[in-house]
Amino acid sequence: MEKTIDEKKQGEALILDKKEGNSKKLFIESYGCQMNFSDSEIVASILSEQGFDTTQSLEDADLVLVNTCSIRDKAEQTVRKRLEKYNAVKAINPNMKVGVLGCMAERLKSKFLEEEKIVDLVVGPDAYKDLPNLLAEVNEGRDAINVILSKEETYGDIAPVRLNSNGVTAFVSITRGCDNMCTFCVVPFTRGRERSRDPQSIIEEVNDLWSKGFKEVTLLGQNVDSYLWYGGGLKKDFVKASELQKATAVDFSKLLELCAKAQPKMRFRFSTSNPQDMTLDVIRTMAKFDNICNYIHLPVQSGSNRILKAMNRLHTREEYFELIDNIKRLIPDCAISQDMISGFPTETEEDHQDTLSLMEYVKYDFGFMFAYSERPGTMAARKLEDDIPEDIKKRRLNEIIQLQQKHSLLRTQEHLGKTEEVLIEKESKRSDAHWSGRNSQNTVVVFPKEHYKIGEFVNVKINDCTSATLIGEAVGYSENN
Ligand code: SAH
Ligand code: F3S
Repeated sequence: MEKTIDEKKQGEALILDKKEGNSKKLFIESYGCQMNFSDSEIVASILSEQGFDTTQSLEDADLVLVNTCSIRDKAEQTVRKRLEKYNAVKAINPNMKVGVLGCMAERLKSKFLEEEKIVDLVVGPDAYKDLPNLLAEVNEGRDAINVILSKEETYGDIAPVRLNSNGVTAFVSITRGCDNMCTFCVVPFTRGRERSRDPQSIIEEVNDLWSKGFKEVTLLGQNVDSYLWYGGGLKKDFVKASELQKATAVDFSKLLELCAKAQPKMRFRFSTSNPQDMTLDVIRTMAKFDNICNYIHLPVQSGSNRILKAMNRLHTREEYFELIDNIKRLIPDCAISQDMISGFPTETEEDHQDTLSLMEYVKYDFGFMFAYSERPGTMAARKLEDDIPEDIKKRRLNEIIQLQQKHSLLRTQEHLGKTEEVLIEKESKRSDAHWSGRNSQNTVVVFPKEHYKIGEFVNVKINDCTSATLIGEAVGYSENN
């Protein structure tokens, strides 16, 4: 199960409005996390200046770029399969160039050029501004590669081209990289050290989105709660900052407040929070502003203190419960979702039971659940044997998924009979007579279209539900509209 913005969007080709004078065709597709989809919008923006319009047709492309994910082995296998497909197309269109972007590019570096003959170009997540130079190399018949990670690059100065957009919701990245070094995770190696983006450029992007009709922004980072701006530089160097820099520093709760105040009618969400970095200030700010949605994605990975420690997650099960209690105390209707990993090395049945009992305590609204996949180079791969047999990992994973489904249904049932504000995003996949949107808690709500339009805030009375969707009828516009 890959974690994405929308499972259906995986790998989908992206379109952008044609820029005058552009004659070359770019086919770009993204796999993996929301950050990759957001990065592809930066890449499309950089290449638009180089004469490329995007196309949805692989066969028509002059340049094919695939933005890749390394988080689990399966994610990498999916990309390898896509390369086979590109190979078949290149047989018909030999001038087509193929580039690999993102985490697999960073992890495999020049090995990619050796292993996959189809690949002309390998570019890591911090090197997209070098794409014009790299393409020039490729056009001269040489393979090109840049996988240098940066301590500064945030792409704060690039206006992303909104790809595949519904014109209503958008992602705005606020940090890049991650310093947490969870022992199972490849991200710190593929995306480098954590950096925060200048809040001014974030607010400008938010204001620009509002002026273009967007109604909801999700602030993105691997670990948003550790956002810290004091004039640039790595977070670890904050200790050396001047008194003035310290006094005027912007942390995540402050950034949320700046966003909420800059556009009081715009909805704000954020992802992802790490329990060890989430502060009470963030929860208080969420409670204070109606336009910050009541939803927190709060991955925990395991309910066992022993496994949490082996994963280098720097909190205990008890501290996590305390955080959950604080969230529910300050924001009683806040939805919470999880990420879980089954079968981390040395995990016993008892540890697994601890995960299930933690889930019983929280009763998450939904979750993203995975079997442990050993990633080369990580601390877990170097120090621990991947000793849980696949069938046991799968069985435990299934138990986690079953329990989550039960809790998801319990949670959606809590909405029955209530009237909730929904932002209309698109037509329902199941019926062209229904709209689909989300409530503040991030649950999908479908209801008959009537006279309402995409991008409107509507009050919807919830009459029915499944474990994943609320079904209702509109009773009028919300105050926010
Ligand atoms: N902080 C990040 C986490 C990225 S990874 C974020 O923005 O979401 C997303 C999820 O993938 C993790 O929370 C974890 O549950 C899962 N994951 C990461 N590495 C994994 C591995 N080696 N095997 C299985 N699942 C993994
Ligand atoms: Fe990975 Fe842990 Fe960072 S899961 S992205 S190292 S918070």
